[in-house]
Amino acid sequence: MADKVRIASLQQLKAESKKIVMVTAYDYPTGRLADEAGVDVVHVGDSLANILGYGDEIPVTLDDMIHHTAAVRRGVKRALLMADMPFMTYKVSPEEALRNAARLVQQGGAEVVKMEGGCEICPTIRKVAQAGIAVMGHIGVMPQSVHAQSGYKVRGKEADETERLIEDALAIEEAGCFAIVLEVVGWDSARRITEALRVPTIGIGSGAECDGQIMVMVELIGLSFRQQPRYVKRYSEAGDAIRGAVESFAREVRSGAYPDRQHAYLAREKKEE
Ligand code: KIV
Repeated sequence: MADKVRIASLQQLKAESKKIVMVTAYDYPTGRLADEAGVDVVHVGDSLANILGYGDEIPVTLDDMIHHTAAVRRGVKRALLMADMPFMTYKVSPEEALRNAARLVQQGGAEVVKMEGGCEICPTIRKVAQAGIAVMGHIGVMPQSVHAQSGYKVRGKEADETERLIEDALAIEEAGCFAIVLEVVGWDSARRITEALRVPTIGIGSGAECDGQIMVMVELIGLSFRQQPRYVKRYSEAGDAIRGAVESFAREVRSGAYPDRQHAYLAREKKEE
């Protein structure tokens, strides 16, 4: 097994101009398979909403996140394990944010946490980071603010919005973020933010000039029932594979083809064992 990935490893990758690879996971199998595939960071995102059947990220609770992070934890050995702080668990006060981040780390087994927001959450990032829990930032489209942001429209297309994104990125870097996710930010803006920062940027729908990329597992493997964003590339059709397997099982049970002798414990064979 290659060396355990730590925050310093991500900084090293950026220094060597090597891309950082992140993917989300929500349970033991997806966590384990992502880790075995050799990604740098496994992220238990609040896109867990897909797995729980919600239409957006807002209903996901801290208890949901802890439960699923603990399952992913059992499957991940090498990658850095990150968990999202879900809706409103870090915006009421820095003290409450620290208590909630501590639960994700202590009970869920997360090594680092992620929070959405710009300048306005700097005191919180500072508090959590200074207490010894490393924080990844997240700007651009912020799914927890889907209503306030009027949907998932691309950010940083206008010059003044790009300037605000750069200000936010610099502020949260200064507050202590060790990396920043840029979600659905225009390519040019993402490049300018990446050039302005010392810490790595991780793009999702933000073009090729970020220091790394993250993809939502259910979108990557074709297991999402939500509308697919344009930036998503599906690398498999797991939904079709699962439906097809269950259809085959149902067909064989109904026709009597399953179980057959090969898949049964027969009394005589058992005695011979
Ligand atoms: O929840 C999630 O999947 C995320 C990624 C979109 C970055 O936070």
